[in-house]
Amino acid sequence: MSEIKKKNIISEIKRIKAKKNAIILAHYYQTEDIQDIADFVGDSLALSQKAASNDADIILFAGVKFMAETAKILAPEKKVLLPDMNAGCSLADSCKPEDLKKLIEANPGRTVVSYVNTTAEIKAMSDIICTSSNAVQIINSLPLEEKIIFAPDRNLGNYVLNQTGRDIIVFNGACHVHEEFSVEEILKLKDRYRDAKIIVHPECELPVRMIADYIGSTAALLKFTKNDNGNCYIVATEPGIIHQMKKENPQKIYIPAPPKDSTCGCNECSFMKLITMEKIYKCLKNEKPEILIDKTILIAAQKPIRRMMEISEKLAFSK
Ligand code: 13P
Ligand code: SF4
Repeated sequence: MSEIKKKNIISEIKRIKAKKNAIILAHYYQTEDIQDIADFVGDSLALSQKAASNDADIILFAGVKFMAETAKILAPEKKVLLPDMNAGCSLADSCKPEDLKKLIEANPGRTVVSYVNTTAEIKAMSDIICTSSNAVQIINSLPLEEKIIFAPDRNLGNYVLNQTGRDIIVFNGACHVHEEFSVEEILKLKDRYRDAKIIVHPECELPVRMIADYIGSTAALLKFTKNDNGNCYIVATEPGIIHQMKKENPQKIYIPAPPKDSTCGCNECSFMKLITMEKIYKCLKNEKPEILIDKTILIAAQKPIRRMMEISEKLAFSK
C-alpha cells in the first residue's frame, strides 16, 4: 500500500471511529502501524479489562477471535467487530469441547481452570479463566485442597504446575508459534551477545523456559525490559511486542528469538497478522464481521471470566 493511501485510510479510520463512537483495541502481536492507531494496546488481560470498562458503542478488536469473543462476553450490549473472522488461534483450536468434556468426566470433582486462549464454548465449561499474566495467582487463589484441570496449553500448564506445586492435570494443547523457538539457535545468539538476557513467554516449551533469565506474559516481558538495568534481550515470544519495548527504551537492543526453521518466519503469529489496516477500515465502515455468540454460551462464559477479573482486581489492589 502506498504511503498516501495508508495516510488516507488512517484518517478515514479516525473519522469513522469518532462518528460511530468506536474504539480499537489491539494486542501486542499486531503490526506496528496497527498498534499505533489503536486506542489501547495490551496483553490478553489488559484488553479484557479495557473491553469491560469503556464508553464506546463499538469495539473493533485488532487481535484474534477468542480475544474479540471475550470482549463480547464482557460487554454483550456493545457491537464487537473482528476485521477477519479467520483470525483464529492454533491453541484455542487444539481444545475441542468433546475432548475437555472427556477429561472432566474422567476426573470428576476437579476445578477447571481454562486459559483465555479458548473458544466461548470452552470458557462456558470452565470454573475460572486465567491469562498468562495471572495464571499462577489464579491457581494460588484456589483453596489448597482443590484439585485442578488446566486447559489447554501444556507449556503454560506445566509452568504453573511447577510454580505452584498444586495437583494439576494439564490438557495437551499448544500454540504453534511459541513451540517454534529453537534452544540451539537462541544459545548461538547468546554466544554472540554475551550480555543479552533471554526473556521467554510461558507458552514456550520447557527447554526454552529452562534457559530463560525471565519468564512472563507479554505485558510482564515488556515491564521487565523497561525496569531491568540490562541493555540487550533475546525475546522468545511473538516479535510484535518488540515495537512497544523499543518505544519504552529505544536505546536498548531487542533480538527476536529465532524459530527452528530459519526459512519460515513462523515465530510470527499468522492469525494475528491477518488483521490489516485496510480490513480495519472496511470493518469499521460496514460494521461487520461482527462477533455474535449464542446467548446460553455467552451467559455461561461470563461467570468464569468475571471470577478471574475479580481476583485480578483484588490482586492489583493488594500489590
Ligand atoms: P498474553 O496473555 O501475553 O497476551 O498472550 C496471549 C497470546 O496469545 C500468547 O500467544
Ligand atoms: Fe494463538 Fe499462539 Fe497466535 Fe497467541 S501466538 S494467538 S496462542 S496461535
